[in-house]
Amino acid sequence: MAGDSAAKTCFFFFIIFLFLFHHTKSTLFFPKEALPTKSGYLPVNPANDSAIFYTFYEAQTPTSPLPETPLLIWLQGGPGCSSMVGNFFELGPWRVSSSAQNIENLSLEPNPGSWNRLFGLLFLDNPIGTGFSVASNPQEIPRDQISVAKHLFIAITKFISLDPLFKNRPIYITGESYAGKYIPAIGYYILKKNTQLADSERVNLRGVAIGDGFTDPETQDATHADNAYYLGLINEKQKKELEEAQLEAIKLIKIGNWSEATNARSKVMNLLENMTGLATLYDFTKTKPYQTSLVTKFVNMKDSKRALGVFDESMEFEHCSGIVKAAMHEDMMKSVKYMVEFLVSKIRVLLYQGLYDVRIGVVSNEAWVKTMKWEGIEKFLMADRKLWRVNGELAGYLQKSWEGNLTNVVVLGGGHLLPADQALNSQAMIEDWVLENGLFGRVPEIMNLSTDFSEPM
Ligand SMILES: *[C@@H]1O[C@H](CO)[C@@H](O)[C@H](O)[C@H]1NC(C)=O
Ligand SMILES: *[C@@H]1O[C@H](CO)[C@@H](O)[C@H](O)[C@H]1NC(C)=O
Ligand SMILES: *[C@@H]1O[C@H](CO)[C@@H](O)[C@H](O)[C@H]1NC(C)=O
Ligand SMILES: *[C@@H]1O[C@H](CO)[C@@H](O)[C@H](O)[C@H]1NC(C)=O
Ligand SMILES: *[C@@H]1O[C@H](CO)[C@@H](O)[C@H](O)[C@H]1NC(C)=O
Ligand SMILES: *[C@@H]1O[C@H](CO)[C@@H](O)[C@H](O)[C@H]1NC(C)=O
Repeated sequence: MAGDSAAKTCFFFFIIFLFLFHHTKSTLFFPKEALPTKSGYLPVNPANDSAIFYTFYEAQTPTSPLPETPLLIWLQGGPGCSSMVGNFFELGPWRVSSSAQNIENLSLEPNPGSWNRLFGLLFLDNPIGTGFSVASNPQEIPRDQISVAKHLFIAITKFISLDPLFKNRPIYITGESYAGKYIPAIGYYILKKNTQLADSERVNLRGVAIGDGFTDPETQDATHADNAYYLGLINEKQKKELEEAQLEAIKLIKIGNWSEATNARSKVMNLLENMTGLATLYDFTKTKPYQTSLVTKFVNMKDSKRALGVFDESMEFEHCSGIVKAAMHEDMMKSVKYMVEFLVSKIRVLLYQGLYDVRIGVVSNEAWVKTMKWEGIEKFLMADRKLWRVNGELAGYLQKSWEGNLTNVVVLGGGHLLPADQALNSQAMIEDWVLENGLFGRVPEIMNLSTDFSEPM
């Protein structure tokens, strides 16, 4: 009898073992369909082993032959935050979700609003030291935008050389937040560099798109008090206090004390957080912060690191790197507006903001855009703000210069990590902008030329 019972016990544990094994597999398993088309490292300094980590997802249902299909590059902000947040939380083809009962139970779910429906999509962990990218030593981490751009240029040209299919594809650089500085920097660098290169070696850059971007701190950081006050988040007395704090940051920018200016800005943000008590300034409607920690948990699992081709599985992924943030401390408050002014006269620029962002949102962007020195700016500012609808429903507002060099979109129903909140509408936006469809195209105005004599003939 005892033997029988022992056998039963053994069988019982065997079943438990099977269950656990199966359970582990089903919760930690990285589905094959979710694997990137390509991923790994793009060395930026082979002598020192520094390299930018990337994940690439080919277009799911391209409407053009692959060699002509646009390629989007995504850069996260921070400074120092990983593009794996963009990938697995915002706009990638598979997003991390957790079951409501058990937050530890993570899985990947297909994203119907993925930005790689029609286009190739490349995520870069930039600058080195961010996410799974490798900085062989802290001194090599960029401290300014020109160094960021140099590394990105090496990484992008290396990526293009990986496959003849990538050779001439139209490239659009996209991203969010502090990428409002990286994107102009790499765009500017590419256009300048292209003039020194043979046709066959040029990077086919067609446009840049910046979401909730930080580009011109001096004008943008002057808007927090008004923005919060007119939203009803603070009263007049608090507004005065906030104005003084932001004036301090601007004064420090003007005298070029960059480090102190960054500290002064942090104080402004801290004041705003304290005064409003919001769960996050990134979205004043949210009752808890964006759950980006799910991405950290997910990509830190061995299976994920193996699936993504992370070279050292003991590498601890941080969603934002404090070391990179510290390296960029003095860069923080420096403007790259002049770079956008250059870009918008050569290629297409899209700016978009989530309406609920009170950190770097609509008002903050309007403020710097209207100070742009660019020959098209007056016409842009005079243009009507159009109602932008997706499938018949109001999705936001769109304003653009008649040629389409500059487009600004305000997106309803979302905050700073806009594609996380508005997956389908952000997909419609990026697709229509790249393809110049509907309101994003030039056609309506051209059709109206005969009745509108203020436009160039
Ligand atoms: C884990 O999540 C999946 C999908 O959300 C669900 O089907 C499963 O029952 C969950 N398992 C546990 C142990 O919570
Ligand atoms: C490697 O890093 C060190 C320290 O930052 C630097 O002095 C050296 O020039 C780098 N080597 C190369 C080949 O860039
Ligand atoms: C910036 O301001 C701080 C505090 O007033 C001061 O200690 C520091 O020397 C200044 N730095 C520069 C570069 O002016
Ligand atoms: C915000 O509140 C925290 C906690 O009360 C406090 O430590 C901090 O000094 C406050 N920040 C500012 C800028 O007043
Ligand atoms: C808009 O961009 C085109 C190149 O695509 C350029 O030729 C044109 O001059 C630009 N317009 C303005 C007003 O900058
Ligand atoms: C042309 O302009 C008129 C008057 O401003 C406007 O009502 C109409 O919708 C415009 N047509 C197109 C195709 O944009």
